[in-house]
Amino acid sequence: MIFIFLLIVSHTNQRSYRSTRNNVPYSVAQLLTTAKPINLSIHIVLSLLCKSYIMTPEELASLRKDYTMNALNEADMAATPILQFEKWWRDAEMSQITEMNAMTLATTAHDGMVDARTVLIKAFDEKGFVFFTNYNSSKSSQLEFNSNCCLLFFWKELERQVRINGIAEKISTKESIEYFDSRPDGSKIGAWASPQSMVVAGKTWLKETFEYYAERFKHGHIPKPPHWGGYRVKPIRVEFWQGRPSRMHDRILYTETEAGIWMHERLAP
Ligand SMILES: Cc1cc2nc3c(=O)[nH]c(=O)nc-3n(C[C@H](O)[C@H](O)[C@H](O)COP(=O)(O)O)c2cc1C
Repeated sequence: MIFIFLLIVSHTNQRSYRSTRNNVPYSVAQLLTTAKPINLSIHIVLSLLCKSYIMTPEELASLRKDYTMNALNEADMAATPILQFEKWWRDAEMSQITEMNAMTLATTAHDGMVDARTVLIKAFDEKGFVFFTNYNSSKSSQLEFNSNCCLLFFWKELERQVRINGIAEKISTKESIEYFDSRPDGSKIGAWASPQSMVVAGKTWLKETFEYYAERFKHGHIPKPPHWGGYRVKPIRVEFWQGRPSRMHDRILYTETEAGIWMHERLAP
């Protein structure tokens, strides 16, 4: 009886959550942060009993959003993709997007597979887009092998995507040191302690290695590890994507001519 009661109440509540949030069913984790205590306890009990919050295939297939916020017109585009990126970057700043500096970096693996991971952009200008990493990591080894790569930003709050195809090269040691010196001590020690992308003995090993370097550098300046530094991705093609209603999105692609002048054209969505 209690179970049936909970099921009915839960179903009612579930619908009301959906109606307030674009018809997206909630996971238990989301509920933990948003639901009222009474609803929360009902949902927790129920989810333990019958896992009712796993999305059905039909619900998953019906997840979609119509984009209406903005448009992208040729006449409004800046002369270079970096200037256009700067405009969109300012919009992103104004919109207070969380982790607007997070971008996907796609590379080619040694076996021809494509690989991708998130990194943080730390600078950009006419020369390109800069991120920092471990030069012994998988991504670095892949970039040494094939410096062609792709950076992707998705700013969902603005219904925008920026796709940058380019060539990565290491920045100067001086530039890397300048940025490394600005990092918090914990991140500096982490850069020494983590043999990024390598298989390690376990979490305890990582903890002990961190503690070893924390002890080693407890007095004074923490230098940049030789294996750590930045890459700059020099853009070759940059596409700006603005979501539009009925999947008729705006896409403007910049390419550089042989004369070094940027031109842009519209792509079909
Ligand atoms: C939000 C976010 C930001 C990240 N920023 C960086 C970064 O700036 N540099 C970096 O090396 N790894 C960063 N990582 C971790 C990478 O995604 C990745 O796990 C790590 O670099 C190892 O990748 P690899 O084995 O392909 O070299 C970030 C991960 C996330 C989720």
